[in-house]
Amino acid sequence: MSAPHSASWPSVTPPWWTTAVVYQVYPRSFADSDGDGIGDLRGLLDRLDHLDDLGVDVVWLSPVYPSPQADNGYDISDYTDVDPVFGTLADLDELIEALHTRGMKLVMDLVVNHTSDQHNWFAASRSSREDPKRDWYVWRPPRPGTVGGTAGAEPNNWGSFFSGPAWTWDEATGEYYLHLFSDRQPDLDWDNPDVRAAVHEMMRWWLDRGVDGFRMDVINMISKDPALPDGELRDGGPLGDGSPYYLCGPRIHEHLQEMHHEVFAGRSGLITVGEMPGVSVDEAVLFTDPARAELDMVFQFEHVGVDHGATKWDVRPLDLRELKASLGRWQEGLEKTGWNSLYWNNHDQPRVVSRFGDDGAFRVRSATMLATVLHLHRGTPFVYQGEELGMTNAPFSSIADFRDIESLNHHDEAVAGGGDPEDVLAAMRQVSRDNARTPVQWDAGPHAGFTSGTPWLPLNPNSREINAAAQRDDPDSVLAHYRRLIALRHEQPVVAHGDFTMLLPEDPDVYAFLRRLDDVELLVLGSFSGERVAVVLPEAAEWAASVVLLSNLPGGVRESAELVLEPWEARVLSRAVGPGQDLRGSSQPVI
Ligand code: NOJ
Repeated sequence: MSAPHSASWPSVTPPWWTTAVVYQVYPRSFADSDGDGIGDLRGLLDRLDHLDDLGVDVVWLSPVYPSPQADNGYDISDYTDVDPVFGTLADLDELIEALHTRGMKLVMDLVVNHTSDQHNWFAASRSSREDPKRDWYVWRPPRPGTVGGTAGAEPNNWGSFFSGPAWTWDEATGEYYLHLFSDRQPDLDWDNPDVRAAVHEMMRWWLDRGVDGFRMDVINMISKDPALPDGELRDGGPLGDGSPYYLCGPRIHEHLQEMHHEVFAGRSGLITVGEMPGVSVDEAVLFTDPARAELDMVFQFEHVGVDHGATKWDVRPLDLRELKASLGRWQEGLEKTGWNSLYWNNHDQPRVVSRFGDDGAFRVRSATMLATVLHLHRGTPFVYQGEELGMTNAPFSSIADFRDIESLNHHDEAVAGGGDPEDVLAAMRQVSRDNARTPVQWDAGPHAGFTSGTPWLPLNPNSREINAAAQRDDPDSVLAHYRRLIALRHEQPVVAHGDFTMLLPEDPDVYAFLRRLDDVELLVLGSFSGERVAVVLPEAAEWAASVVLLSNLPGGVRESAELVLEPWEARVLSRAVGPGQDLRGSSQPVI
């Protein structure tokens, strides 16, 4: 068991975000201050102690800009203001200041692959073919030989992410516009330099206001193959897969380098994260190589696709070996150049404890195991609101319980296509994005302390047991465990900067890996089983005299050094591997 010694950032001081932990706030569902049932900025301001207490470094705020809310704010109608439902620009300024006072940073969501159809740029663009903003969006005539507005007349066969074709016919001007998401989210044309300049100006405006960076929504979709070719047909239906022509398209690196030069060059202390569905490891290295000046890190999707079949609605049981192979490959691929982000959850993913853990009898144990495994990888961890409480998927009973545009469109399309409504609902219960969006469970009171009104999406009824107030002073809670994990990353350089070596890739139950920096080595073990499992490590003897740095068993205590894991147990062992250092004398276990 010998891990290589080198660490990245070998000759330069590692950037601050390599030791940081980011917390994502989905404002609609975080905390409501005014009783309208929708979370808002003042609600967030009221809850900053929770974030401070957790110890996170950065808050990523999902969109709060003016929006018709067709996609809960990912359809922006004005980039430089705040939607009244969330508050005012003055509230946002107060948030920036309050976070900075507490030593935290604020990252805004940047949604510039598309705008809302209510943005005045699009209003101008659709007003006439001659309007100066016409070519700010992607307009095309019907397919030759067809009549616009009839089935099959779309300029190409691309399907949208939210069901149906990626084109909508505009009767008034006799052309189609492109929308990779819903018809309320027209795609901007990034080949147009005026579009790029307007986006850059808006980004500088936010940085000048004090924000500390951006999480960039589907940013690897902004450059499309200008020929817009048909894609391969999906499942024998009429729609094709356009992704080869818009994921990491021909000018993507050029656009991001230009953005870096126009917006970020000469500023410091910032963080940029590119959300990139379908990105490969090789592309991610290019995007995050500091020498290329594009982005600091990307969100990749491979590991959250391991339980998908042909589509996300076709849910398969987790094969732990596939999860390890995927995450391990990303660790290795970004070992020398670039940087990983680490996440299980966000506003688009079902709750991880329900997905990869056991949200029943072993909810606390499996939530803390999953957290431990993730946070001990090399990269910047992202915690999604409620994940630190072990919040679970929701028990949606009927279609009336869902709000998400992706889920509702999928339901209509699947049922219209002959799907059994019960089967369609069963899949939605498991993977709908609404699982992530039920309000944060603050206490055991009415509506879990989220609102005094009627929540826009019902609370999970388990809020009486699972809530922040119940966990705050409980050292065995999920919340306390996240606190310890975040502190560990801040305190132990090996957690942030050590090398990573995957162990036992073929073990179906145990996630095991090593971290190593100089003369400190960690062994991280996580059980994905509800039974006791033995860890069959050939080098087990080397760990006999190690320190337990972290455990998720009650009291954080492990009686025996035996490498047998209790159901869903996580254990982090530490040992000195260099001459002359005995960790048992020098390091304080943080359990
Ligand atoms: C990715 C966002 O995370 C998701 O919530 C949104 O629906 C799409 N991009 C479109 O903006």
